[in-house]
Amino acid sequence: MEKNELEMRWSALEEKCRNCHACPLGDTRTNCVFGTGSRTARLMFVGEAPGEQEDASGVPFVGRAGQLLDRYLYAVDIPREDVYIANILKCRPPKNRDPLPAEEDACIEYLREQVRLIRPEIIVCLGRIAAMRLIKPDFKITQEHGVWFEKGDFALTAVFHPAALLRDPRRKEDMLSDMKKIKERLDSTK
Ligand code: URA
Repeated sequence: MEKNELEMRWSALEEKCRNCHACPLGDTRTNCVFGTGSRTARLMFVGEAPGEQEDASGVPFVGRAGQLLDRYLYAVDIPREDVYIANILKCRPPKNRDPLPAEEDACIEYLREQVRLIRPEIIVCLGRIAAMRLIKPDFKITQEHGVWFEKGDFALTAVFHPAALLRDPRRKEDMLSDMKKIKERLDSTK
């Protein structure tokens, strides 16, 4: 795709997303949390939905869970600015409840277009909700985290959601080993 066309598609997408009222969350958000990072990233992370701090700032993964994610990225030597980070939902659900299927359906095309524009090699689902949407509906995070799924031009995997690690630190070893595998795969295809 030509640079100009790419830039126009990014601007159109972001503008549409920022003004979106395709579901009721458009009325309650402070900010649309579109996504952040490198638009030429080889690696993309997809979380569930913005929380309170993300809604306030407009940036994904900046709260406690985000800070923990940053620590894992640092531990495996992946600069945050080299990856792209987005969520299934661009607006915060009230009281951080799970996204409703209708909200995901209304929002998923934004993520699809982000993936088409970035064309990452690897997509990492942060937690069960993203994995159930992007990998398979019956995804079991406790059994299938760290497993690779090949889909067309990219590989998909899922890791525990950093908020789940805050609640259950026993998963942290698994998280570190999954993140190491992601870094290895990234390095092996350079
Ligand atoms: N949890 C998510 O799934 N996404 C965010 O952006 C923040 C917390």
